[in-house]
Amino acid sequence: MQKNTITLTNNATGENYEYNILEGTRGPAVLDIRTFFADSGMFTYDPGFTATAACESTITFIDGKKGELRYRGIAIEELATNHSYMETCFLLLNKRLPSKEELTDFDLEIRHRAFLHRGLQKLFDAFPDDAHPMATLSAAVTALASFYDEHISIDNQDSYLEMAHRIISKIPTIAAFAHRQSLGIPFMEPDINLGFTENFLTMMRAYPGGKMHLSAAGHDHIKEVEVRALDTIFTLHADHEQNASTTVVRGVASTGAHPYVAISSGIAALWGRAHGGANESVIAQLEYISSVENVEAFIEKAKDPDDDFRLMGFGHRVYKNFDPRAKILKELQDELRTELDLDTELMAIATKIEEIALNDDYFVSRNLYPNIDFYSGIILTALQIPKSMFTPIFVIGRTVGWITQWIEFRKDDTSKIARPRQLYTGA
Ligand code: CMC
Repeated sequence: MQKNTITLTNNATGENYEYNILEGTRGPAVLDIRTFFADSGMFTYDPGFTATAACESTITFIDGKKGELRYRGIAIEELATNHSYMETCFLLLNKRLPSKEELTDFDLEIRHRAFLHRGLQKLFDAFPDDAHPMATLSAAVTALASFYDEHISIDNQDSYLEMAHRIISKIPTIAAFAHRQSLGIPFMEPDINLGFTENFLTMMRAYPGGKMHLSAAGHDHIKEVEVRALDTIFTLHADHEQNASTTVVRGVASTGAHPYVAISSGIAALWGRAHGGANESVIAQLEYISSVENVEAFIEKAKDPDDDFRLMGFGHRVYKNFDPRAKILKELQDELRTELDLDTELMAIATKIEEIALNDDYFVSRNLYPNIDFYSGIILTALQIPKSMFTPIFVIGRTVGWITQWIEFRKDDTSKIARPRQLYTGA
């Protein structure tokens, strides 16, 4: 009978070690090396975890070669086109899409939990006006743990879902307050008459009293197309398997710390420009390039092995053909071009970079394609969102993924404290 195992041979000693191959439902099989150290006295070495599966999961599946992304088995294209972000949140948490009644109940609960404790609001005063909203966001989410410090029983669904709903609901309020604090303008309280995404845009943009900008033609309104675009951006960011920030969230979960502290750590990890911070860096880079005529010189800089300049919004650890989220955003960008007045100089620079890079051997041979962050910034700019808020918007979308991964980790009986080992080369 064919054995589903792999045998490793130590060529110095001739010793053999046999390990089981575990098959998932999709994607590559994994080699179960949990006893390798006990068997051989050696560790495995894999900086950046490029070949390591650290957990079993049923949440998100990515096939990097095919450019495939699924939440709970449903293709991202289907979710982005036919379902709202609220439906996507319900799906991630409950493993299935909601019925109409379930969606109404879920949506209403999220609306009603969006306010912040008055004590927490004082925290924002402690930050300087020019504080990056990611710093404020991370600190405020840690502080939130002290306001909701009750025991969360992982065997009690009501208990952990309440904790999850609360953080999904309050994150947009915290992000909008962080933004308004940086402008020195009064906070705009959440409005239960508005859905998740429209409420966030209102908390960002409204004047005191909740009204939009007033001109001779009357008050501005948040357009339906703006809500749809941002809702899609939230859906595309909702989860992404075992990426860097999720790995941090699971790592903190493994120590038994409060889930909001785990999420706060995820926010910190996401901030870096190799990860979620790339969306802010893309626009900063386009502004720096400043004109279409300069694009070729910057492409040459990105290709120069002696220059550490990188094209922001290009490349991905897992996607080696295309990023399906980027494809959806590119289509959305083309669709919204007129409605959102996207034909700016920044758009022209981005289009030129895309044209050159997609045909240049340096980028093609390294499988470097535009990722989600390349396109999201242009759309967010058209939604009047300042670039310092781009990564907080990633946070708003991703919070449901982090909390779902936290729940999955805690429910998994095989979970252990995260404790990798090392190859010591010091004195
Ligand atoms: N511009 C120019 N060269 C690049 C770029 C880039 N953006 N990305 C990778 N390379 C080159 C890199 O220099 C290396 O070349 P060589 O083989 O000659 O040394 C090769 O491509 C492989 O790069 P790597 O750093 O080993 O690849 P990685 O899988 O470890 O890193 C990445 C993936 C996303 C960190 C990287 O592509 C990058 O820094 N991209 C720019 C930042 C960015 O857009 N990040 C957002 C990722 S998507 C949002 C999210 O989910 O976080």
